[in-house]
Amino acid sequence: MNWEAFLAPYVQVVEELKVKLKGMRAQFEYESQHSPIEFVTGRVKPVPSILDKAYQRNIGMEKIEREIQDIAGMRVVCQFVDDIYAIVEMLRTRNDFTIIEEKDYIEEKKDSGYRSFHLIIEYPVETIRGEKQVVAEIQIRTLAMNFWATNEHSLNYKYEGQIPKNIKARLKRAAEAAFKLDEEMSKIKDEVQEAQRVFHTNKNKPIE
Ligand code: GTP
Ligand code: MG
Repeated sequence: MNWEAFLAPYVQVVEELKVKLKGMRAQFEYESQHSPIEFVTGRVKPVPSILDKAYQRNIGMEKIEREIQDIAGMRVVCQFVDDIYAIVEMLRTRNDFTIIEEKDYIEEKKDSGYRSFHLIIEYPVETIRGEKQVVAEIQIRTLAMNFWATNEHSLNYKYEGQIPKNIKARLKRAAEAAFKLDEEMSKIKDEVQEAQRVFHTNKNKPIE
């Protein structure tokens, strides 16, 4: 298997989506509006992880492209829960890709305590052999959700997916605490944004 050739379109998609999503953030900034995007990251799944997942789910090589949907993975991190839905709405109206699935793990959190909004998209990418539809996953979450997911992911890695029961219970409590933080921040969102607008204006004032 020529992995480099196989992954090339995915690398392309991640790079293009990074430019586009970061572009959205910049546009909000130029227009001095609150940006619903705090930061954007993207990655192509490493080959060993692809092989692991294919093996664990009994996915044959020919089916990897369709069935492993996060080979190209983007993450959009926001300050507030409302921002997530604002971004989803913006992404729904775009014409440069098609959303094939939406998973709202905020309305329905996962058993682990995980919260995020996921979009599975089909993104047309130009290759030297013409257009190719590439499947990609966009995860949209708050800073608090991201903090939780990052730590939980580290623990999963450490315990090879078998996190001890007591730690799992703690993680669930931490997930609820993170969500409580999001809810509390939502209540003072207008105050926070007003302060950030003032701060932003001052920041851009030239030094006299
Ligand atoms: P997977 O990617 O293998 O989970 O495929 P899936 O079809 O079950 O999709 P799902 O929507 O459940 O998860 C997609 C991605 O969301 C994962 O690859 C992770 O990045 C993230 N995710 C889902 N559940 C959890 C979780 O409990 N903890 C953390 N940290 N991340 C999760
Ligand atoms: Mg899963």
